[in-house]
Amino acid sequence: MNEKRSSRLSGFYDKPQPERAATVIEWAGLSPKDAAALDGSGGLTAEQADHMIENVVGLHSLPLGVAANFLINGREVLVPMAIEEPSVVAGASFMAKLIREGGGFHAHTTEPHMIGQMQIIGSPDLRAARFALLENKTRILDLANQIDPVLIKAGGGARDLDVRLIDDSPIGPFLVAHLIYDTRDAMGANAVNTACETLAPTIEQITGGRVHLRILSNLADRRLARARCVAPTASLAFGDFTGERVRDGIIEAYAFAAADSYRAATHNKGIMNGVDAVVIATGNDWRAIEAGAHAYAARGGKYTSLSAWGKDADGNLAGTLEMPMAVGIVGGATKVHPTAQAALKLMGVTTARELAEIIVSVGLAQNLAALRALATEGIQRGHMGLHARQVAIAAGAVGNEVEIVAGKMVAEKKVRVDRAEEILRGIRAG
Ligand code: MEV
Repeated sequence: MNEKRSSRLSGFYDKPQPERAATVIEWAGLSPKDAAALDGSGGLTAEQADHMIENVVGLHSLPLGVAANFLINGREVLVPMAIEEPSVVAGASFMAKLIREGGGFHAHTTEPHMIGQMQIIGSPDLRAARFALLENKTRILDLANQIDPVLIKAGGGARDLDVRLIDDSPIGPFLVAHLIYDTRDAMGANAVNTACETLAPTIEQITGGRVHLRILSNLADRRLARARCVAPTASLAFGDFTGERVRDGIIEAYAFAAADSYRAATHNKGIMNGVDAVVIATGNDWRAIEAGAHAYAARGGKYTSLSAWGKDADGNLAGTLEMPMAVGIVGGATKVHPTAQAALKLMGVTTARELAEIIVSVGLAQNLAALRALATEGIQRGHMGLHARQVAIAAGAVGNEVEIVAGKMVAEKKVRVDRAEEILRGIRAG
């Protein structure tokens, strides 16, 4: 692999789709099979899908874009994003370009520790049962480590046991044991659930209670991904907006999300636009990531912003994002889905932690894109061009008519199907 290559692909946005695909395929040195999975000519078959879920009748496709310009921990990365919403891929690419000027993204992750929960009901003495479990921790962890030799060989396995007393619930007090399990490059739901189910009889014997639920927690707060970045103030200037004004506007917008849950939900949704698009492109479980993100955002008892924005010592805009990131690169759909495989190869990731570091960086870039637009000209202006193209197509425009009709409507600030039809009639009449 050529490590000198840059993710800054000039003119990428303006290229026709097949040329764009060819550029990316060559850039990453993808095999013909991976190339076909990426450019849409290959990919998941109905037969493969039939083995993935039940009652399969066909396939459901999404656009796959590639975000350019990302520099993450000093590495050039092209990021595959599966998403139906306009402006997301362009927003991420644009912000990644500004952030390159500040040294790119610095991202890291904690160890990939998942939490498996066991609900223990009916122990005669809850406090004594809790202590008994903690006294038997080594035995329980040893037992857990006999379950999955593949994971142990990969360096994973049971790491710790916490036991919590839930004082008050609709059925009264009970115990919850948390098995802390290192799932390495797997998302780990299967491994964790199997471990909890296997441990349950031993836990019952030790506590004298009944183990009811045995399932992982999606609040994966021991598997965190963190990214930070700096956007030089000068790089933020555009049109009539000075860099200082944009920077301060972004910080004010962040303050709104930090203080108000109604705003925080939308602010975090903007982060998830970027996060989910990469999670989906790589065949990971985006519901798990969503659940973890929002639970983490509410961990202090009040739902708030996942990211933070302020000024660094030189007065530049500095941002951070921290969130759970339970993604894998082995097992499940990541392994079966040809496009997910191609997506991982495009990014050149070899560990789940590296993937998580890319995803959290994209989330931060996406957040910046939204705040920059909202704090300046508003979100609709950027959307207008793409919306106009969709309206032109709805009016019957084909080929280069689409751009002509859309361009005219945007210039006139009249993006309507009736106007598109009128312009189209004009073009066709010569
Ligand atoms: C739209 O998909 C996402 C935004 O609403 C995010 C935000 O408001 O920060 C623009």
